[in-house]
Amino acid sequence: MAYRTIEVTPIGGTMGAEIAGIDLARPLGNEQLAEIHQALLENQVLVFHGQDLTIEQNKAFARRFGPLVPYPFVKGLDDHPEVFEIRKEPDEEKNFGGAWHTDMSFEERPPVGTMLYARETPSRGGDTLLANLYRAYETLSDPMKRVVEGLKGVYSGDLKGRRGGRKALMDTTRFQTANVERAGEMEAEHPLVRTHPETGRKALYVSGSHLYRIAGMTDAESAALVGFLKDHAATPDFTCRVSYRPGTLVVWDNRCTQHRALNDYPGERRVMHRLTIGGGDRPH
Ligand code: SIN
Repeated sequence: MAYRTIEVTPIGGTMGAEIAGIDLARPLGNEQLAEIHQALLENQVLVFHGQDLTIEQNKAFARRFGPLVPYPFVKGLDDHPEVFEIRKEPDEEKNFGGAWHTDMSFEERPPVGTMLYARETPSRGGDTLLANLYRAYETLSDPMKRVVEGLKGVYSGDLKGRRGGRKALMDTTRFQTANVERAGEMEAEHPLVRTHPETGRKALYVSGSHLYRIAGMTDAESAALVGFLKDHAATPDFTCRVSYRPGTLVVWDNRCTQHRALNDYPGERRVMHRLTIGGGDRPH
């Protein structure tokens, strides 16, 4: 579509756009907001470089997409519990979000979107990769589409595919963690193919670290299909890559994307503020 109040430049072959011509610290008009919303639906992830935002301004912009919800496994900032800091120090090895996933897919109503605001970035590296789950669905063969359309996946907060689960992951970070002992109780079943409530498009709802089995299948059947779907949903042809500098703000739609944070900046610091946008539908 043609935009009047923002400049929209695609960054990937099938997803992602940079948005220019807008200062998110200033109050936005209804037309600007409507165009940003439309651009997100069309591109699945939007990147705004060069923004200078207070936490309040960052929260105010995020709320234009929906209510903010806390992330269950990390304590938020003291005065802003809906915002948490993803910080990796130069002497740390592991990063947060380094495996493919779509945020909080283990909830009954997973969040609509996620916003990251770059506070401090490494001199190079530290990008986020995102994958377009519409393309993941659309590129399946017709027989495979018929197989997955009738199936439900089981999504767990406990990272069951990872040795030691959620606890082992959180133990490698210096975050102030929360609810880690309850991670195994956080589980939901969702259709493997979900219909986006706003675009009406179908997406293959694969969340790399959370999807761990297919409801009703034997372990062997489930492992084979989950393995195939995870590989397929991370095909490079469906991805785009977001590079950051301080002041870059990114928002993505969790209903049709998954993502992973690259860990290719040894010896450097990366600090992001993450806000999670709730109000999502029950996938159907
Ligand atoms: C996340 O998975 O929420 C973090 C992504 C990133 O830090 O790039």
